[in-house]
Amino acid sequence: DASDIEKGTYPHYMLKEIDEQPLVMRKIIQEYQNEAGSVKINDDIANAVNAADRVYIIACGTSYHAGLVGKQFIESWAKVPVEVHVASEFNYNMPLLSENPLFIFISQSGETADSRAVLVTIKALGHKALTITNVPGSTLSREADYTLLLHAGPEIAVASTKAYTAQIAVLAILAAKTAESKGHSLEFDLVKELGIAANAMEALCDQKEEMDYIAREYLSTTRNCFFIGRAVDYYVGLEGALKLKEISYIQAEGFAGGELKHGTIALIENGTPIIALATQGHVNLSIRGNVKEVVARGANPCIISLKGLEEEDDRFVLPEVHESLTPLVSVVPLQLIAYFAALHRGCDVDKPRNLAKSVTVE
Ligand code: G6P
Repeated sequence: DASDIEKGTYPHYMLKEIDEQPLVMRKIIQEYQNEAGSVKINDDIANAVNAADRVYIIACGTSYHAGLVGKQFIESWAKVPVEVHVASEFNYNMPLLSENPLFIFISQSGETADSRAVLVTIKALGHKALTITNVPGSTLSREADYTLLLHAGPEIAVASTKAYTAQIAVLAILAAKTAESKGHSLEFDLVKELGIAANAMEALCDQKEEMDYIAREYLSTTRNCFFIGRAVDYYVGLEGALKLKEISYIQAEGFAGGELKHGTIALIENGTPIIALATQGHVNLSIRGNVKEVVARGANPCIISLKGLEEEDDRFVLPEVHESLTPLVSVVPLQLIAYFAALHRGCDVDKPRNLAKSVTVE
């Protein structure tokens, strides 16, 4: 209950929850680490992923965006194919299921009706389900075969922040554990890299003034804003756009860098803010090419890059983390920019209009 959780010195729950992210990372590392310092997950769960010929991730909203990032971990590390589906569409646009699927439900609250409807469907078909949730004993947790907890502490603000990064971390741990049990060992120490990411997140939370400044500069009067990225940056851009639209009511959309020219570029006018993420070496040149395309049409670019990939005019440079874990850090400035944009525009940050923390109707 919101009234039981203190905001302390924070003006809003959202800001408090953004700041808690490094702590949540450390808590997750602690919960999912064995004495030898490597990832620990209930064997039954790793075996269930291991035994599946395909994983279907089902989620809504921010949890869906975390699922997109998680797909890459499971596919590239554990070598299990993954599909990510928006829960509300699954029952109507049901894909042809593989012979031995495993369903992973990602839900902060564990109560989202659209996700539950899919759980009911797939249970009736006799399939197995794992729920990744922040709420022990929630409906999706009780009705699934297995549960992994986020350990993020109660999330009160309607706009989800710490649950998103917690979901990504838990999905990474699940993928690493499954990879290990399949004999594909990771080329890096995930526990160590998550610790490095936690420190980087902490450093970012200390740069609120800069984020406030960016929000003022780009977003105080704009009607719309576009987020672009390639590879995993595309997925983080979707989340950045969702945060911004949810709380500031600026029309914000995330696009794959290469898809822009196939339609959306028509919306670029003089001064349209474009927030571009550049955290991936293998697409750095091409995302920068996309930025040039929109700048040539008058866009006002705000490039957020990863240390080591930065160029002269980048607006903000993120501390270096392992290339596969960049969403944990790149989302933090986007959350903060959305927060300050909402604040400057006089919006109710914690209780945006028309939105509910958990949607328990279809
Ligand atoms: C609501 C919230 C979103 C959330 C989505 C899924 O729409 O406003 O912030 O991402 O539900 O919620 P869940 O609890 O299933 O993660």
